[in-house]
Amino acid sequence: MKLMVVGGGGREHAIIKKLRENPAVEVIYALPGNGGMTNDAVCVPIKATDLPAIRDFAVEHKIDFAVVAPDDPLVLGCADLLEEAGVPVFGPKKNAAIIEGSKVFAKELMRKYGIPTAEYHVFTDLSAAVDYVRTAPMPAVVKADGLALGKGVIIAQTCEEAEAAVRSMMEDKVFGESGSRVVIEEFLTGPEVSVLSFTDGETLVPMVSSMDHKRALDGDKGPNTGGMGTVAPNPYYTDEIARVCMDTIFLPTIRAMKAEGREFRGCLYFGLMLTPKGPKVIEYNCRFGDPETQVVLPLLDTDLFTVMQAVQAGRLKEVDVRWKDESACCVVLASAGYPQKYQTGYPITLPAPGAGDEIFIAGARREGETLLTGGGRVLGAVSVRKTLRQAIDAAYDLASHIYFENAYCRRDIGQRALAALGEER
Ligand code: AMP
Ligand code: GLY
Repeated sequence: MKLMVVGGGGREHAIIKKLRENPAVEVIYALPGNGGMTNDAVCVPIKATDLPAIRDFAVEHKIDFAVVAPDDPLVLGCADLLEEAGVPVFGPKKNAAIIEGSKVFAKELMRKYGIPTAEYHVFTDLSAAVDYVRTAPMPAVVKADGLALGKGVIIAQTCEEAEAAVRSMMEDKVFGESGSRVVIEEFLTGPEVSVLSFTDGETLVPMVSSMDHKRALDGDKGPNTGGMGTVAPNPYYTDEIARVCMDTIFLPTIRAMKAEGREFRGCLYFGLMLTPKGPKVIEYNCRFGDPETQVVLPLLDTDLFTVMQAVQAGRLKEVDVRWKDESACCVVLASAGYPQKYQTGYPITLPAPGAGDEIFIAGARREGETLLTGGGRVLGAVSVRKTLRQAIDAAYDLASHIYFENAYCRRDIGQRALAALGEER
């Protein structure tokens, strides 16, 4: 079988490595992939948003199955285009990917179907939004409607900050057309949990829960990033909470999408906050999270390709999806300065990972035999072990054997999770 994975980061590397475990998989093309995954995939220099080129490549190379991983091609309709060309694809169609592509859509869906989320108001008019925030309760959360590289969310402590956020989105258009509508919502508190799920629109199978670390600096300080590390499972996410989420959030969401004529097939990601009033949805993503995927997929004990094919074909209920009873930790090694200004082009030295360890490359390019840094997030050092503490120690040990100039990582990945288990250092 010839597979194709659209995307090029650490998440895609984790997906590709897992797909390769199936002996029927002969080759995986990564579009565009990156120079750090050339042992696992054939990288093809086609951008993940160049939809016609992706479709033409798939047809020309007689691709048997495609996985579209990032949000932007999904929101643009990459899955639709591939399916129309006769290529089976894992990933939602455009009319379902809107659950991530428009925060206004997601909020209105939740309101209509009674799915717990923060209270909110939507504004398309700048002066109405400004009038509202001048007397709104603070803190408040201001969100651009459309995709904004994970940066379209501002937590305003004061009315002045909220007004500035609204103006930057609606007047100065810092996120382009994504900010022509804004959602202003109630500030929620509580531990955050990421739950990715496989769904064919009918059946939903949650993956192991995880905890992201979004801020750049230790102690959850500094600017928001794409994610500096993850652990799985998330100790705050108890069996009881999982049951509540299934009944009040997960199943209602896929049923709501179906009722709207927007059946969701693929990976549906629930960003949850466990508030004093119960679990609420912070955001939906129409795809695997990154770096969540780097800890979740190594814990999957069932063949990933089998699961993805079942999702695509609408027969997920026939598959027994199992998870290892272990813990995983991913420490992201980034270029110092990320997410703002950083330098790339430094040679990377990698150890050969031992049993239970993986290195997923996110941002690198190859020059001959040399791998050079090529992005903000360069790689994820991932360890799977019996306990969370062992996984954390092993991931940091693995990271300490990886070298490139200007490497930066947070030193406290997993510490909040350990504290939740009553095991802080
Ligand atoms: P998002 O891009 O929607 O995941 O938002 C980024 C981060 O902002 C989330 O991970 C939360 O930490 C925070 N956030 C978003 N919405 C809220 C909210 N209503 N209350 C508190 N924090 C929020
Ligand atoms: N790590 C958060 C995300 O993938 O959206």
